[in-house]
Amino acid sequence: MDSKKRKQTGVLVRGLFAILMDHPEGVAVDAAVERLSYAANGERTQLYEQLMRECVAPIKAGWLSGNSCHFILSEEGRVAFKNYPDPEEFIGQAGRLSLKGWMSVHFPHPYFFLGKLRDRFASEYRVVKRIGIKNLMEKAIGTAAEWQEVLPVQSPRRIKIPGFNLRDLDSFLSELRAASLPYGAGGHAVYLPPQTLQDTAFRTLVKCYPPNSGLKIVKHPGGISESVYVSTREGESLFHLRMIHNLRHLTLVANLLHSNGVGPKLYDLVELECEQNLWTAFVVEHVGRAVTSMPECNEGIRKIRDLEEKGVVKVILPAGFEDPEFQCPDCSGNAFTTIDGEFRYVDFQNFALIKYGDLLKNIAVEAVEVSHFGDKSLFRGGCYLYQSVPGVNLPGKRSVEDRMKVLTRLMETIGVTVRDRLVLDVGCNIGMMMAQYLHLGALWCQGWDRPSVVPHTEKLLQALGCTRFSTTGADVTKSRMIENDLEPFLEPYLDGCAISYLAVRGHIGWLESLAHLPWAFLIYEGHEGETTEQFAEYINELNEMIPIRVAAHDEYSDGDSEPRTVAILVKI
Ligand SMILES: C[S@@+](CC[C@H](N)C(=O)[O-])C[C@H]1O[C@@H](n2cnc3c(N)ncnc32)[C@H](O)[C@@H]1O
Repeated sequence: MDSKKRKQTGVLVRGLFAILMDHPEGVAVDAAVERLSYAANGERTQLYEQLMRECVAPIKAGWLSGNSCHFILSEEGRVAFKNYPDPEEFIGQAGRLSLKGWMSVHFPHPYFFLGKLRDRFASEYRVVKRIGIKNLMEKAIGTAAEWQEVLPVQSPRRIKIPGFNLRDLDSFLSELRAASLPYGAGGHAVYLPPQTLQDTAFRTLVKCYPPNSGLKIVKHPGGISESVYVSTREGESLFHLRMIHNLRHLTLVANLLHSNGVGPKLYDLVELECEQNLWTAFVVEHVGRAVTSMPECNEGIRKIRDLEEKGVVKVILPAGFEDPEFQCPDCSGNAFTTIDGEFRYVDFQNFALIKYGDLLKNIAVEAVEVSHFGDKSLFRGGCYLYQSVPGVNLPGKRSVEDRMKVLTRLMETIGVTVRDRLVLDVGCNIGMMMAQYLHLGALWCQGWDRPSVVPHTEKLLQALGCTRFSTTGADVTKSRMIENDLEPFLEPYLDGCAISYLAVRGHIGWLESLAHLPWAFLIYEGHEGETTEQFAEYINELNEMIPIRVAAHDEYSDGDSEPRTVAILVKI
């Protein structure tokens, strides 16, 4: 450090000492910085950082004690202040009393560079200790497990926000402030509650989601592939940043927290096309009540700790549960409660999924008994899944991917698609065909199956990263008005919806609702052994209820199944 710089340092540190001389009990750092910045006409944050750096020598000399909150002078410090009125000599004398002090006075740049390196190293070390070297290596080396390749199965939707050119979030937030519309701004995302959405151009977006939806717009602009939830900031652990899941995998984290009763429901991950600008956002259930009671919050955090103890997730912040983001009652603005008083932790980027493939497999295994529909297979070892589950190496009687290839081709030949459409899946089983429709970009899927089956449908679809779905558990009869099972926000989408009627007619017959529902096309699959004559007979039956025609048809056999007729029916 040259003489001029040493003098400047001495002036600043003596300025602090002068304040402390009048306060033997010490002074809060904030107050000291405030007074110094006023005197120096400087910027507070910069001054704070400068002071923390330049006080190393007097601290190491034992003249000053300080932490990030409070400064106090020792007796030696008071004497030194009086003995060395010249600022350069003052700081030079302080430097002479310790090696670190001397380094900080004479070689400030290398000293602070090494100090930062040491802090970074300490932070990386804490992350390694928390996450475990094995989990880190998997992520760092990039050996993706099978689930990472195929999940989430659901495709994100791109939604046009007409007449709204969202260039930058800061100006948008100023507009919201001017209009007194509430919002929340965190480090990585901006949150718009339902009422604000209704009062802005985003009202068109939320029409296709439940009315209690809020929107969490990721601050980093761009679509899902360009956008990141957290961008690198100085001082953050690189291992920690590396552990944060990409936006698509974060939907799995959100679903996992929700299905374990600690996170709000995620309705979707969307790309918002605001004229020329693309933004990425999560559509989430709004939980508006800030946590007010310690017991409520402690109980919620305990549930999250349980998940970590079970080895399902890991908190990836270097300080783990000691981080302010997990301190009750508000967890740095992450802890909320539903109107029913249930705890919800609203941020999901703080968690990494651990052994997710095993978890998924367990959820699928739990569904085997109820999902199985048909003969037991000695070869397969008794009961096995009816529908195969993506990302899970378990036998299934039906291969959902193979079926979907044929069905997609049939739909394409007549120029229809499930994309942006409501799909009603009657006899949905564990929902794996719904997952396929969502993969093709369906707007929403509603499925019906027996009450013992649908809890597994829900759990599996969530574990696969699906969000745009709902289910009804019921023993469906022909006369059931299935439209009454839909949530009101879906009613407008009945017009032009698609019906999925796969291997179910033999169990329920033709639903009477098919006669009056305004569906656009019906995807039909017959049962094993169904002859061409029988197929024609069933089509005639439906024709008597409502005029229809077979627009495309074929035959396929997939998995362990015998050949089956498949067809796309349209109204005439
Ligand atoms: C042969 S499986 C077909 C599953 C699915 N549609 C597929 O093709 O992959 C028939 C499904 O319909 C359901 N099911 C049969 N009768 C039903 C009823 N009355 N009410 C609700 N679900 C029924 C069964 O539980 C089973 O999941």
